[in-house]
Amino acid sequence: MKFSPDITVIGGCGHVGLPLSIMFAYKGMKVCALDIREDVIKAVNRGIVPFLDKNLDKYLKEVLVSNNFLATDDDSFINQSEVVIIIIGTPVDEHLNPRFNDLLDVIKRYLKEFKDGQLLVLRSTVYPGTSKMINEMLIRNGLKIDIAFCPERIAQGYSVKELTSLPQIISSFTKSGLERSNKLFSLLTNDIIEVEPMEAELAKLFTNAWRYINFAIANQFYMVANDFNLDFYKIHHAMTYKYPRIKGFAKAGFAAGPCLFKDTMQIASFYKNSFFLGHSAMLVNEGLPDYIVDRLKQKHDLINTKVGILGMTFKANNDDIRESLSFKLKKILEFEAKEVYCSDYHLGFNYLVSEKELIDKSDIILIATPHSRYNSLDFKNKKVYDIWNILGKGGKI
Ligand SMILES: NC(=O)c1ccc[n+]([C@@H]2O[C@H](COP(=O)([O-])OP(=O)(O)OC[C@H]3O[C@@H](n4cnc5c(N)ncnc54)[C@H](O)[C@@H]3O)[C@@H](O)[C@H]2O)c1
Repeated sequence: MKFSPDITVIGGCGHVGLPLSIMFAYKGMKVCALDIREDVIKAVNRGIVPFLDKNLDKYLKEVLVSNNFLATDDDSFINQSEVVIIIIGTPVDEHLNPRFNDLLDVIKRYLKEFKDGQLLVLRSTVYPGTSKMINEMLIRNGLKIDIAFCPERIAQGYSVKELTSLPQIISSFTKSGLERSNKLFSLLTNDIIEVEPMEAELAKLFTNAWRYINFAIANQFYMVANDFNLDFYKIHHAMTYKYPRIKGFAKAGFAAGPCLFKDTMQIASFYKNSFFLGHSAMLVNEGLPDYIVDRLKQKHDLINTKVGILGMTFKANNDDIRESLSFKLKKILEFEAKEVYCSDYHLGFNYLVSEKELIDKSDIILIATPHSRYNSLDFKNKKVYDIWNILGKGGKI
């Protein structure tokens, strides 16, 4: 049967592109999820969500049955859609500068498929000014397209709930672009906030940098408390209990993943490397694995100690390893300890061991990612270091 999309999502099988595509399809739009990874496209069309995202698989199955959704690598669907959304990855390079070209290259690659009258929604997190650059590039190519920048703000893994509950920030260079974006996102939420494009770009980057700095505050305070042989979590509780002014004070632990660090670095680059707070947060957060190993060296004869790392993904109850600091910890420990065992039941790498084997073989155990099921493990009286305090016995190292 011929599929005639209302919306094509470029990057539509990614961690945030797929949920967005599915939720628009669930709201009655005909959505084409355009991607370049053949295996993933095939899996998605069979009803498989290729990563952990709460309840998303149920919605995927529904939109496949209703014939509102198709994953494909056929770029001619762009031309048939009134709305095109781009949500590809926007990493930083080896100098921690944003790689604009990724986004521009994708637009150039599909340029022949764009047509006058479309609404192009940029949804990747971008360096400030990128939307303007793309708007000017399309005008130079003679295209009359409404360009909007409407950032994605969901927490990975919780898309179904968040796409329909979080307010949506929208911006555009044209009045009609703003009206059309408003109408589009009103399918998902009643809370729409209109700002200028660069304000929207910064709102997204500031959000991620704020979270990254917030984690760094917790991690720095953790180190201070720990260096004085005090439990950070006792102090954390004393500070936060019935004290609303400090609501949102994070727990200590690895602050990693594909977004927070790189978005903090995008502001650093935009602000000519004078974003001191962002760079300080980076030193604290990225330094945590080294700090942990230094502390272990003070407490154990590490070179004769077998260490187990529980949790390799970058966040709890998820299967995403992108930029996970567990791997940095593993690398340092492989240099400093007798043996290192790693376990994560979400992952299938052949160097990983089961939780039981890790507990049996390790002299000491570190909980690096706070997966909830670690709460119910039998640690057999082994020494466990729990920087996240998920076992509720404190986080001292
Ligand atoms: N992951 C998150 O929780 C999250 C949350 C908010 C915002 N963001 C932002 O959203 C953007 C995407 O992040 P992500 O985590 O979904 O990345 P991702 O790598 O999981 O997804 C990107 C998708 O784009 C596809 N792609 C790449 N080139 C393409 C092309 N030429 N044509 C079609 N598809 C192509 C990839 O195959 C992939 O499926 C980034 O800018 C990120 O900062 C991510």
